[in-house]
Amino acid sequence: MACVGGRVTWTGRTDEVSGAVTAAAPPVVFDAGGSVVTPCFVDSHTHALFHGTREIEFAMRAAGATYQQISAAGGGIASTVQSTRAASPDLIRSNLERHLRAMLRCGTGTVEVKSGYGLDLETEIRCLAILADCASRCRQTLVPTFLGPHAVPAGFPGGAGAYIDFVISDVLPEVARKGLAVFVDIFCEEGAFDLEQSRRFLTAAAALGMGTRIHSDEFTDSGSAALAAELGAASADHLLAAGPSEISALAAGNTVATLLPGTAFNLGLPFPDARRLLDSGAAVALATDFNPGSCYCESMPFIVSTAVCRCGMTVEEALVAATANGAAALGLGDRKGSLQPGADADFTVWALDDYRGIPYHLVLPDIRFVFLSAEAESEPGTGASGVGDG
Ligand code: NIG
Ligand code: FE
Repeated sequence: MACVGGRVTWTGRTDEVSGAVTAAAPPVVFDAGGSVVTPCFVDSHTHALFHGTREIEFAMRAAGATYQQISAAGGGIASTVQSTRAASPDLIRSNLERHLRAMLRCGTGTVEVKSGYGLDLETEIRCLAILADCASRCRQTLVPTFLGPHAVPAGFPGGAGAYIDFVISDVLPEVARKGLAVFVDIFCEEGAFDLEQSRRFLTAAAALGMGTRIHSDEFTDSGSAALAAELGAASADHLLAAGPSEISALAAGNTVATLLPGTAFNLGLPFPDARRLLDSGAAVALATDFNPGSCYCESMPFIVSTAVCRCGMTVEEALVAATANGAAALGLGDRKGSLQPGADADFTVWALDDYRGIPYHLVLPDIRFVFLSAEAESEPGTGASGVGDG
């Protein structure tokens, strides 16, 4: 593979590289020594912008409570909202940076990050501004999403409908004016926001030039995957409870079906049926859903293993879903998630001589180096020099 200016310019046989590369200065050569090289993972769904972890709820679930029961009792998203509102910007920033480093060690080069733990004008803007600042300094590519309608804030007068009105009239225009988000997202679910509210919010965001995505059918079939397809949303995410008409709508449209099997793993729910979606012709992406409540997991390799072992995906389908299709879900298909000429040279060098070893080795990623824009990152990697046990 040849790279110039941080982009891939050529891939092919080693004995043909010299003919393909014309460099003014002598090239820097890195010999991967027969190791597997893949595009970096694209994690197209995370909630990494918050303060306040919820291990207490994790233990409550282990003792029998459900995610919805905990939320209804004042825990859940509301509890992280409380601690995020009270946290200093430095704390939120250092949390985000720590999680991004963990993602990098797992081979993730591009990360979508959602707001949604502020739920008021001031905190949503503060969090998105922290994200913009991190994005300008961090070597991973960050894609900001405004998730103002993540939950109805406790005690908001008038409930969900009035909160959506407030988000549309007061928060969304400010986010757009400051250029703080590329996408918007909404949690369309019983106890959160309904189909009509979702349509209103997403239509308003699209009119301001923002891309759209939906937390869709996580616990109940809301019809929101069909809405996502109708509105041409970039993705419909979760889909644990998606019924046949939701799947047909995704298969017929251009909306990427993003599966988050780590959430099903963590909440003890049935795994998403990727096979059904793939066989119907939908484009499937995989992401972590990294968040403090339903999936405290930064690891794309774990997600890929889970998708292969539990969601009916082949190794190849899962790797494509975690790279190229994640990039497509973020509108970055021409730059990320592949090593085609023209793409950013974000790639992982594995201590493996067979790519099937990526999901095969559970939990511990066999990563030697992560390159972003053709430069090696210092932190990742085991320092291992071999290429596996085989
Ligand atoms: O995608 N479903 C809504 N949002 C997250 C959970 C957020 C939380 O519990 O803090 C999700 O699962
Ligand atoms: Fe989510």
